[in-house]
Amino acid sequence: MGHIKGLKCRECAREYPVEPIYVCEFCFGPLEVAYDYKSISKALNRKKIEKRPMNLWRYRELLPIDGEPQAGLNSGFTPLIKADNLARVLGVNELYIKDDTVVHPTLSFKDRVVSIALTKAREFGFDTVACASTGNLAHSVSAHGAMAGFNRFIFIPATLEASKIIASLVYEPNLVAVDGNYDEVNRLCSEIANKYKWAFVNINIRPFYAEGSKTLGFEIIEQLGWKAPDNVVVPCASGSLLTKIWKSFKEFKDIGIIKELNTKVFAAQATGCSPISAAIKLGSDVIRPVKPNTIAKSLAIGNPADGFYASQAVRETGGYAEDVSDQEIVDAIKLLARTEGVFAETAGGVTLASTKKLIETGKIQKDEVTVICITGNGLKTQEALQGHTVSPHYIKPSLASFEEVLEKIKSSGH
Ligand SMILES: Cc1ncc(COP(=O)(O)O)c(C=O)c1O
Ligand SMILES: [Zn+2]
Repeated sequence: MGHIKGLKCRECAREYPVEPIYVCEFCFGPLEVAYDYKSISKALNRKKIEKRPMNLWRYRELLPIDGEPQAGLNSGFTPLIKADNLARVLGVNELYIKDDTVVHPTLSFKDRVVSIALTKAREFGFDTVACASTGNLAHSVSAHGAMAGFNRFIFIPATLEASKIIASLVYEPNLVAVDGNYDEVNRLCSEIANKYKWAFVNINIRPFYAEGSKTLGFEIIEQLGWKAPDNVVVPCASGSLLTKIWKSFKEFKDIGIIKELNTKVFAAQATGCSPISAAIKLGSDVIRPVKPNTIAKSLAIGNPADGFYASQAVRETGGYAEDVSDQEIVDAIKLLARTEGVFAETAGGVTLASTKKLIETGKIQKDEVTVICITGNGLKTQEALQGHTVSPHYIKPSLASFEEVLEKIKSSGH
């Protein structure tokens, strides 16, 4: 059995039973899963975790399920790469990449949240799963939903990158491309969720779904040798991932898995959609919605549901935020590929370019341990690099033609 006590309003602390609900009837605050940490601290320790299979369910006592996992048995436990080449370029001593470009099966951290959401959807008895997505979530619900045998309704803005749309369609969901931006898609989905008895993973299942992001944080601590980093840099769309990474660190401290926690949490956004970083930079609690305009479409949420909580986590930890231009995003994608061999999607460009600025301005210091969260794979957003890469060398199928080019390459110093 699980260790969930129930759901609890983040604002007024009113308690609710474990049901597919997400908003407090009294104050409209968001509901969150509440656990029995006393029993978890008795049930879970480092040794027990280390003996389990290398997937995100190794932390299952801290995840909101009652029975056995129904999805994501191969998801999670992605590499934590010690990024020495990149560290040298950025001028810091110890830098790590949490590489969620390779989460099984759809190559973004969304496979984490969807694993929990679909397990919960099955426990609640739903036969149809759905989501409002900026792209990556669509892939993940399409794929995991197919494996677990759910009907699937996937809602996306029609303007998503063509490659992102195909990477959903291959799983043959009902894909609904809406003539509007993500915030409009999300509003429509809230209406649909009220009318149809579907498990909208990021609406009525959101309290459970969001908990899946904690596994990224648990893994960081385990992979650093059961230590929390000095800094963690997290890309933000709705702000949920950042909020939950911070929650995961606090939980490991609270149940005694780690003794010390002095991590600063940093938010990364694209300047063309930066409601969270703008509030943090202004020192304000108010998240002002914006109309997104950036190549980082996966992060293009203008009215972030968890923006307030993300900015609060950043403030609480003494972190900060940065935001970056489209050009900086492209440059950072290339820098990451060139130095560490990791091909990230635009969200990864946002995270690295923001980290670079945070180092340049002294918010992140040279001798600190920093982890940057690279959360999605670059093969999904190749359009962003069109015209920004080096060109192939075109030759005839002859040795002479090749050697002609080789001479040119040599004389250009490559
Ligand atoms: C690749 C990638 N990274 C980060 C995020 C941010 O997630 P959140 O909405 O939890 O802030 C998203 C959201 O879609 C994403 O697709
Ligand atoms: Zn409330």
